[in-house]
Amino acid sequence: MADKIFKARLEPSGREFTLEPGATVLDCALRQRILLRYGCRNGRCSSCKYLLIDGEADFGKTSPYCLSDNEKDEGWALLCQARARSDLVIRDQDFSRRDDAPLIVPKERLARVAASERLNASLWRIELDLRDSISFHAGQYIEVEIPGKKNQWRCYSIASPPDRQSQIELVVKRLPGGGFSGQIDRLLPGLELAINGPYGINYLRAGNRPVLLIATGSGIAPLMSILRSSASKSVDREFHLYYGARTRSDLIFADELQRLEAQMPRFTFRPTLSAPLAGDEWRGAQGRVTQLAQREVIDASPYDAYICGRPEMCEAVSMLLLAKGIPEERIFRDDFFPAA
Ligand SMILES: Cc1cc2nc3c(=O)[nH]c(=O)nc-3n(C[C@H](O)[C@H](O)[C@H](O)COP(=O)(O)OP(=O)(O)OC[C@H]3O[C@@H](n4cnc5c(N)ncnc54)[C@H](O)[C@@H]3O)c2cc1C
Ligand code: FES
Repeated sequence: MADKIFKARLEPSGREFTLEPGATVLDCALRQRILLRYGCRNGRCSSCKYLLIDGEADFGKTSPYCLSDNEKDEGWALLCQARARSDLVIRDQDFSRRDDAPLIVPKERLARVAASERLNASLWRIELDLRDSISFHAGQYIEVEIPGKKNQWRCYSIASPPDRQSQIELVVKRLPGGGFSGQIDRLLPGLELAINGPYGINYLRAGNRPVLLIATGSGIAPLMSILRSSASKSVDREFHLYYGARTRSDLIFADELQRLEAQMPRFTFRPTLSAPLAGDEWRGAQGRVTQLAQREVIDASPYDAYICGRPEMCEAVSMLLLAKGIPEERIFRDDFFPAA
């Protein structure tokens, strides 16, 4: 049974893909260029919750907050964790909304640390040289394997633009006891790392709609990729960035963002500090990013919104924008859920 190959069929589209032994349903789909809804790939965010209309699966590691026993009994599964025990029929009703850009098949490859720079008390900028270049959409992320820990991966958004395919930039927040970020001092130039990707469905969608970009902390990383690539391609589109931090030193990339604001006629950069220090001499907005968006976004209905950072912030901002009229399908959010 363990090494048997099964088949999955999506309903109502009728699209089929093969379920390889031992692999999660989501990984099998992505390898075969079938895009399903997902986020963290770690059983944490519930984005990949689908109803199994028929068939049996091993549910994998799931928390009761993301998938309750009742839901399992009804046939719901997190496809980033579930492995098939038989052929599966999966209900996939919102298929048409996602098929916007070509799916880039994720792949494992080797990278070498090219540079590591401390940006403030907790954030580092890491440049990785890739042996095999990587294609990705602005806003996607990769997984990095923890050095010395086989098969333990952590998600990091790509901050560099997609036209830089053989050197990518990440922003890493050091967490106390963090399996990966706790080793940040060891990520010296020359160190080899395994990476996997690209992943993520919250990349910049094409179109003319004005765009809201909202981030706190390291959540700025995927938004930098979006802004850097839009600037280099002279995209003629409205972008408004609301970026929250505690103090001036937490506002990473502020100088570059000011330069981009001067270069991009339809880009506005609106930083806000929740706890500025006296020495910051801050004359800009104060308070949380949610409060700034509450004050400044009067009608959210014309916008696409990209929201990245702590899950509580992503949830609060999403609720706010929904109340201000944005349709749910135009919110693209990467909640930075912990892996461990
Ligand atoms: C799609 C996606 C994109 C992401 N992009 C980035 C990024 O660009 N930069 C970045 O720094 N992080 C990013 N993250 C978050 C990052 O992957 C996790 O924080 C990860 O757990 C860090 O790994 P670690 O080994 O350093 O810490 P772990 O060993 O995973 O965790 C160590 C301790 O810190 C706690 N912890 C972990 N993450 C958080 C958190 N976010 N807030 C508070 N406590 C936490 C854990 O519960 C644990 O107690 C992203 C997450 C997702 C899902
Ligand atoms: S729970 Fe499966 S992608 Fe987040």
